Amino acid sequence: MKVDVLLGLQWGDEGKGKVVDVLTPRYDVVARFQGGPNAGHTLEFEGQKYVLRSIPSGIFQGDKVNIIGNGVVLAPDLFMDEAKDLEKSGHELKSRLHISKKAHLIMPTHRLLDAAYEAAKGKNKVGTTGKGIGPTYADKTSRTGLRVGDILDNFEAKYAAAKARHEAILKSLNYTDYDITEVEKKWMEGIEYLRQFPIVDSEHEINNLLKSGKSVLCEGAQGTMLDIDFGSYPFVTSSNTICAGACIGLGVGPNKIGDVFGIIKAYCTRVGAGPFPTELFDETGAKIRAIGHEYGAVTGRERRCGWIDLVALKYAIMVSGVTKLIMMKSDVLDDFETIKACTAYKLKDGSVIDYFPYEIDDVEPVYVDMPGWKTDLTKMTAESQFPQEFKDYIAFLEKELETPISIVSVGPDREQTIER
Ligand code: GDP
Ligand code: IMO
Ligand code: MG
Repeated sequence: MKVDVLLGLQWGDEGKGKVVDVLTPRYDVVARFQGGPNAGHTLEFEGQKYVLRSIPSGIFQGDKVNIIGNGVVLAPDLFMDEAKDLEKSGHELKSRLHISKKAHLIMPTHRLLDAAYEAAKGKNKVGTTGKGIGPTYADKTSRTGLRVGDILDNFEAKYAAAKARHEAILKSLNYTDYDITEVEKKWMEGIEYLRQFPIVDSEHEINNLLKSGKSVLCEGAQGTMLDIDFGSYPFVTSSNTICAGACIGLGVGPNKIGDVFGIIKAYCTRVGAGPFPTELFDETGAKIRAIGHEYGAVTGRERRCGWIDLVALKYAIMVSGVTKLIMMKSDVLDDFETIKACTAYKLKDGSVIDYFPYEIDDVEPVYVDMPGWKTDLTKMTAESQFPQEFKDYIAFLEKELETPISIVSVGPDREQTIER
């Protein structure tokens, strides 16, 4: 058996959580492979809305096993809050949510470091989620991080050493006005809570599952344009969000990758700082934000809105080997006279390129205009009901991106999903 991988192809918040939830019945296991509580994955069904941060989005469909892989960074206190909320709403987790021993722990001092580094950047702030993501991955790479497996043996001493190291850095940054007594107390409660879950060698588990004929869906967080290598560096997150991240973050070989689902919005959003070629600063951008409720699921920050960027999407499809596209939030464009799609970038010297360059700071989008469909898509249940203009938009995207759009989403609910 192979694993299928589901990824965001833009700047995150494409609607990955919803699609994982919809696809879960087809798989035996769902596994998260990178990121941490910087993610906010929203699911809606039966009139309920849930936002997941560290727990995979396959947790609501039956009694499927969900795995938090080695590539994830986990904050025990936030994880405890998230898991307890789900338990309160009747979802049993402790037997079927497995956590990799190799996942790294986000410490309270990582969050302080995140804030201190951002403060030190002045005008060049990344606009992080403040969850300690960068400093935790930096410790991982520096070979000084704490892992979930560490809680099983002599943990207090390891924690104290890491904390002392962080405090020395904070002092050197003159970032000393903090008191983490309460946060630390809760964090330690989170560690005790974590011990109640199966702490596993997830790479063995996943490969054994595949050997025994079980199917696995790998859930990505963030999006390709936030990838540490291929995103709009340095305005990125600190993990590999592309398909290869699933190999690294779960321990599956590249030859075990089956379908790669690329999740896209029918337009584009970004939260945080950094370049965004198709960003709209006018009332059209404000209209997309209002209709699409484009406010961060984690931080509540306003999301920047713009038209779909096919240059960036082609690049995202290339670096991940995307086999199928899934288009979300189509209904948000229901009421626009004209829909635009960026097909090329104009550079400062006047030349026009159709490939994604090293830097996108100063590129100007070149657009193709298409007529809007001016029809309510939200109650449609089959492709045959789509207005011609919407069919044309889908066909145009498929042709430009050379990849089929296999699912179209027309609303936030699980049911508002149309397979093609
Ligand atoms: P994720 O991080 O990729 O899982 O996406 P988020 O949950 O951060 O953001 C997607 C938002 O769009 C959530 O509020 C979803 O409920 C919502 N959503 C998902 N699909 C659709 C859709 O097709 N139409 C509309 N209107 N909203 C959607
Ligand atoms: P999901 O999984 C959108 C952005 C932050 C910031 C940058 C770095 O819900 O799609 P970090 O805290 O990771 O160091 O922040 O990345 N960012 C996201 N934007 N969706 C996300 O996750 C994001 N996770 C991080 O806004 O610009
Ligand atoms: Mg999100």
